[in-house]
Formats: sequence, C-alpha cells, structure tokens
Amino acid sequence: MRHLINFKDWEPEEVIHLIDTGIQIKKEPSKYRDALLAKSLAMIFQKTSTRTRVSFEVAMTQLGGHAIYLDWLTTQFKLADIGDEIRYLSRNVDCIIARLKRNVDLVQMASASTVPVINGCDEKYHPCQAIADMMTIKEKKDLLKELRLVYIGVHNNVCNSLIEACTMLSMHITAVTPIKHPSAQDVELVENAKKTGLYEETLNVNQAVKDADIVYTDTWIDMELFLDPRFEKEKKQRISLMMPYQINKRLMKESNALIMHDMPIHRGYEIDGEMIESPRSLIFTQAENRLHSEKAILLKLLDKI
Ligand code: CP
Repeated sequence: MRHLINFKDWEPEEVIHLIDTGIQIKKEPSKYRDALLAKSLAMIFQKTSTRTRVSFEVAMTQLGGHAIYLDWLTTQFKLADIGDEIRYLSRNVDCIIARLKRNVDLVQMASASTVPVINGCDEKYHPCQAIADMMTIKEKKDLLKELRLVYIGVHNNVCNSLIEACTMLSMHITAVTPIKHPSAQDVELVENAKKTGLYEETLNVNQAVKDADIVYTDTWIDMELFLDPRFEKEKKQRISLMMPYQINKRLMKESNALIMHDMPIHRGYEIDGEMIESPRSLIFTQAENRLHSEKAILLKLLDKI
C-alpha cells in the first residue's frame, strides 16, 4: 500500500507514470468511467480549499466512485485521537485525502491507516499540485527534461514540492525566495536537491527569468492569514519586501517564459492582472489539470493503473 505525503519514497518512473496517465485520462475520460466503481474517498479538511476539494470530489464521481467531505470542526477529529479516528475511517473507505495544518498529523494518519492517505497540502508539501503542474508543462512542451523553471515568491510548501518534482524529473529549478516560511523548512529536501546540480537559489530575479522556460509564483501570504487583522503588520512588511519580485510586464520583458500560479491568486500582489490574462499564462489550464491528475493519483494508489 502506498501513501502520497511527499515524493521522498517515490521513484521518478512512478511520478512520470502519474503525469502521463493524467494526460491520457484528459484525452479519453470516458475510458475510466467505472474505474473506481463503488469505491469511497474520505476528504478531511482542516483548512479552506477550492481546487483540491472540487478536483478530488469530481474525480471520484467521474471514476464511478463517491467522495465524502469531512470538515475538521464538525467531525470528531477535533476532539479525539487522530490515529483512532483514522483506524475507524479506513475500515469504511478505500482512500483518504487530508489537508492539514501540520505534516506530523498527516504522518500519524498515514501510519494509523490501512488505506492510502494523500496529502492535500500541509505546511511543508503540496505533492498533488506538483503533479498537476508537471502534467501541464509536459502537455505544453511535450517533455520535461532540461527545462528551466524559476519559482519566485516565498519558499513554502508549493516551492518544496516543485523542488522535489523538478529535480527527480531532470528539470532545472531556481528559487528566488527572499522570504523562507519557517514552517515549510525541510533541510534534507533542499540539500538533496542541491546534490543533483539541478537546484539553485538566487535573488537576482531579472537574470533568473531571462533563461527560464517557466516562471512560477504563489501567494506571499497564507490564505487564512490574508484577511486576519492580527497579521496586518507582517503582511505590510512582506508586501513591501516582495513587491520588486511581482510577475509583471516589466519583469517579463526579456523573457519568453510560460507563466504558472497554483491559485488562489492575489491579483496585484505576486502577479498583476495583465500577466494572468496573457497568452503565455497556463494558470487556468494548470488548475483544470488538478482534476485529471487527481484521477491518476487515485487510480495509482488504488492499484488500478
Ligand atoms: N492550489 C490549491 O491547492 O488550491 P486550493 O487551495 O483552492 O485547494
């Protein structure tokens, strides 16, 4: 039985298989209509979501199965031992996806579960997003090897999973991250990436985007903190520090790179509206591809591909 917490125990061939299966499913969705007939997915959310919730729920419906949304605050997860709740849950469902605040809780879930557990994004990793991102790039460019991706923003969970995915798929990745989110820190992941020779860090954003095939950004501030008045001072400081790194026409004037963002977007902060709508933006295809790639992940973890 496999879990998908991050890519540390995944082989490159397995990740390539997920990406290629996602592309295949997108082309011929009807071929997979009954692939998960009578299977159930529990979806546990401790944090807000649009794409992760919708894509997994629609994926289960379109594969002939069923998804159950469990809000952390209206279930007994809030009160009970995580391991006990998961031991019960995995006797009634075939797979679990969880979006949790803390990776340690997700790891505890996985060790208590007798069915596959999928990380729907914690503070350290967002592997499902990275699979959809790699699928989107491969669809557009036909290959991944030796492409150059530049990630501009805060070093966070999305950045970590991109570093893992790019380096295991022989892509170059440069992180332009003036702020490193402390809770996302994974020294081992970064050191392993550096050893591949495919990962580098710089603050020279203009130089970095010149040779890029893909420029990728993400929100500078966690969604749940963006409207929180207690975070106002920190938010102002971050915006002032990060504004020179905004993806806009001026930054991209000497670059032909495609533009990606995992959404949700804060327009006018990490990226301006003109770049979101530009013909080189893959953002909405990238978000759509969450559906097709989630299907591939579910099929793989449930031994159907
Ligand atoms: N990109 C992403 O995970 O979107 P949601 O937070 O809306 O699920």
